[in-house]
Amino acid sequence: MNTTLLVENNQELESFYSLNLQTWVGTTIIPKKEAKFCSKVFEDGSQIDLIITKARIGLEKSAEAVFEMIQKSGRNIPLIVVGKSTLTDESVIHLQSGLDIKTLIQAAGKALNVTAQNMAQLQIPEYFAIPINYFLSLKRSVTDVYEEDIDQAGSYIKKMDEFHDFEPSLIKTYIQKGVASLYVKKHDRLYFVTNVTQELVAKIEMSELNDDEQLSAAEMGQKLLTAKLTRIGITEETTKLANKQLKMMSHTAKKYPKMGKLLGRLMRNQAGYLFKHSQILTYVCSNLMDNIDWGNEEQKKKISFIAFFHDILLENDEQAQIHTEKQLKESGLDAASIELVNSHAQKAAELLVKYPGAPMGADAIIRQHHGIPHGIGFATTYGGNLSPMIIVFILAEELTDNIIRSGKELKMKKILLSMRKKYPTQRFQKIIDIMETISI
Ligand SMILES: [Fe+2]
Ligand SMILES: [Fe+2]
Repeated sequence: MNTTLLVENNQELESFYSLNLQTWVGTTIIPKKEAKFCSKVFEDGSQIDLIITKARIGLEKSAEAVFEMIQKSGRNIPLIVVGKSTLTDESVIHLQSGLDIKTLIQAAGKALNVTAQNMAQLQIPEYFAIPINYFLSLKRSVTDVYEEDIDQAGSYIKKMDEFHDFEPSLIKTYIQKGVASLYVKKHDRLYFVTNVTQELVAKIEMSELNDDEQLSAAEMGQKLLTAKLTRIGITEETTKLANKQLKMMSHTAKKYPKMGKLLGRLMRNQAGYLFKHSQILTYVCSNLMDNIDWGNEEQKKKISFIAFFHDILLENDEQAQIHTEKQLKESGLDAASIELVNSHAQKAAELLVKYPGAPMGADAIIRQHHGIPHGIGFATTYGGNLSPMIIVFILAEELTDNIIRSGKELKMKKILLSMRKKYPTQRFQKIIDIMETISI
């Protein structure tokens, strides 16, 4: 077993790193709140195989301070720095975003000489221990949870049912009793860890995160929201999370004066299609609203709401990339996924009728966002009685999809030209005129 010294002052981030590094690279974590608290670990000769530190913590230049300690100790310890630092030494690995789990795990694995193969070969017990503290950030577990029988080692008793809210005091009682871990079944553990990770990240204040991390956090939050809306629908809990996510998405759309910058950052973050789709769509829609004669703040709010929620019930990138009946037929998805893709517009509209403070008529546009009035299936042609807002939305979706597909080779003129051919009527052409003004 190897050991990682983690320098991070934010509680949720510390838990995030610990849980994921333990799960994916099998390392033991020694957490420290600032670099200045690390000197003891060096002095007492503790085993340290890797150090991960935030670049700065408050006024402390943590990365530089840790680097100096390594040099002074004469030890050869790889250092991963999250965020911007002045360190240029070869031994230092820089990560833009601590929340990009894939990149983090790859970097840590490489530094610790742990490969995916090593991890796959690890013998994992049938009941997998989860340190009790992680349960403090949950209202319910997404898997069944067990406690080890104190009278009979190796036997486990089910204590929580999946998706069943538990009393907030329950975990504190366990801690008082001295219970260090609860257990989930081996095959449930990655699902459980992913959910706790999302819950932890949803609790982090945005001001604690850099621009890249904010995008990762927003993407994880969106996945969490989809899962919760599907399971429990509109409640105080899901509304609160949705409002936060919605705000982040509009905030990000405002923050980037040019779309290319936003797209570049999304690609660098390895954001998935579903998230990129909603985020760029929000950007396109709010830019269009700024330039349409009937556009105002209220309409902008409404279309941002629609952009955020229209595909919210879709579960993955594969489902979200289907925009026609033909694609759906050829998709090879299972029956349940086909049914979901086919009816996602109608289902989302139905759900949002209950959403407190939803803009008037937003649900109707969500229902029709694939051009079908009742919201089931995909239209191939568009009737003449579409409202102005739905025309904007249909075109914005098409543009967004083209933008994502073109990636780094973004050729706006070419995309708009092909859209002009596809939508020859005047009402559509007028919106495409406005699209010419979006700055890339
Ligand atoms: Fe969509
Ligand atoms: Fe859709």
